[in-house]
Amino acid sequence: MKIVVTGGAGFIGSNFIKYVLNKYPDYKILNVDKLTYAGNLENLKEVEKNPNYNFLKKDICSHDLIEYIENYDVIINFAAESHVDRAIYGPELFLKTDIFGTFNLLEISKKKNIRFIQISTDEVYGSIEEGSFDEKAPLNPSNPYSASKGSADLLTLSYCKTYKLPVNIIRSCNNYGPNQYPEKFIPLMITNAIENKKLPIYGDGLYKREWIYVLDNCKAIDVVLHKGKDGEIYNVSSEFTISNIEVVKKILKVLNKSENLIEFVKDRPGHDRRYSISCEKIKKLGWIPETDFETGLKSTIKWYTENKNWWQKIKENKQFLSHYKKTYKK
Ligand SMILES: NC(=O)c1ccc[n+]([C@@H]2O[C@H](COP(=O)([O-])OP(=O)(O)OC[C@H]3O[C@@H](n4cnc5c(N)ncnc54)[C@H](O)[C@@H]3O)[C@@H](O)[C@H]2O)c1
Repeated sequence: MKIVVTGGAGFIGSNFIKYVLNKYPDYKILNVDKLTYAGNLENLKEVEKNPNYNFLKKDICSHDLIEYIENYDVIINFAAESHVDRAIYGPELFLKTDIFGTFNLLEISKKKNIRFIQISTDEVYGSIEEGSFDEKAPLNPSNPYSASKGSADLLTLSYCKTYKLPVNIIRSCNNYGPNQYPEKFIPLMITNAIENKKLPIYGDGLYKREWIYVLDNCKAIDVVLHKGKDGEIYNVSSEFTISNIEVVKKILKVLNKSENLIEFVKDRPGHDRRYSISCEKIKKLGWIPETDFETGLKSTIKWYTENKNWWQKIKENKQFLSHYKKTYKK
C-alpha cells in the first residue's frame, strides 16, 4: 500500500509512521509536512533512512501539492493546527490549515481518485455532562479549533456524498505518549514537574477528559485503514475519564514531587467541561484499547525523563516561551 501521511512530523503522525513502517515492511509512506513550530523531524530519526519512507516539506494548502501525489492509495490527514489555546489567540491560521488545507487534500483525492481518511477529534461534539456521544451525535464545537475540525469533517462527508469519494473520519479523544509537543497538557505537566516549575491548571481543575495512549490510537487508525467502511465515522477512545487535577496528582506522585507545585490559573474561554465518546462501532471492527492509563502514563513519564534533550530545546525556544507567558501568566 502507498500512503500519503500529512502532518507526519507531529506527535500522532510520527508515531503512526513508525508504527506502520515497522508493521508492514512493504508499505510506502510519503510524509507531507510544512514543519510548523509543532513539526519536528527528530521524531522520525529512526525511519529517515528507510527506503519506504519519503519526506516532502510542503503546506497542505499549496495548490501545486497535487503535482507530487502520484500513484497513492490513500491520504491520511493528520496535518492541523492542533492547540486550543493558540486557536483562541489566533483563529485565522486554524481556519486556513484545518479547513482550507483539508479542502485542498479532498480536491487532490477527488482528482487523483485516492481514498481519504480525516484525523478528527472528539472535541467536535462539544461538552457532555453525562453519558457519551456516538458517531451520530450532532456537532457542537465550542472554540475555533474544534469548529475548524468540525468544518473539515463536514467537508469530508460532503465529498463522499457529492463525488462518491471513499472517505473515513476518525474522531479520537485526547492522546498522550512520546513526542507530544510540551505545550499540551500531559507533557507540559510532566516537564514542568521534572524542572520543579509550577504546574498551571485552568479553573477548578475539574474538567474531565478521556485519554488514549498514542499507540492505541495508531492501531485504531490501522484498523480503519484496513477494515473501515466507506463514508463511515469512527470514534476512538479508551473510555477512561479523569479530571485534569487527578492527572496532575498522578504525575506528581510518579515523579515523587510535591503537590505544592500545582497552581490554579484563570480559566480559558469556551472551556468544555467534559468530553466523552463511545466506540462500540470501531470495536466491532476488532479494535480495543490495550494500554491502561496508569501504565501509559508511567511509560510517558519515563520517556520525558529520558529524553530531556528533545523537550528542553523546545521549551527554551522564544516561540514556546511567549506562548506560555501569554497563556498562563495572570
Ligand atoms: N493530540 C491529540 O490529543 C489529538 C486528539 C484528537 C485528534 N487530534 C488530531 O490529530 C491530528 C494530529 O495531532 P497532533 O497532536 O499530532 O498535532 P501536532 O500539532 O503535534 O502536529 C501537527 C503536524 O501538522 C503539521 N502541519 C501543521 N500545519 C500544516 C500545514 N499547513 N501543512 C502541512 N503540515 C502542517 C505540523 O508541522 C505538525 O508536524 C490533528 O489533526 C489533531 O486535530 C489530536
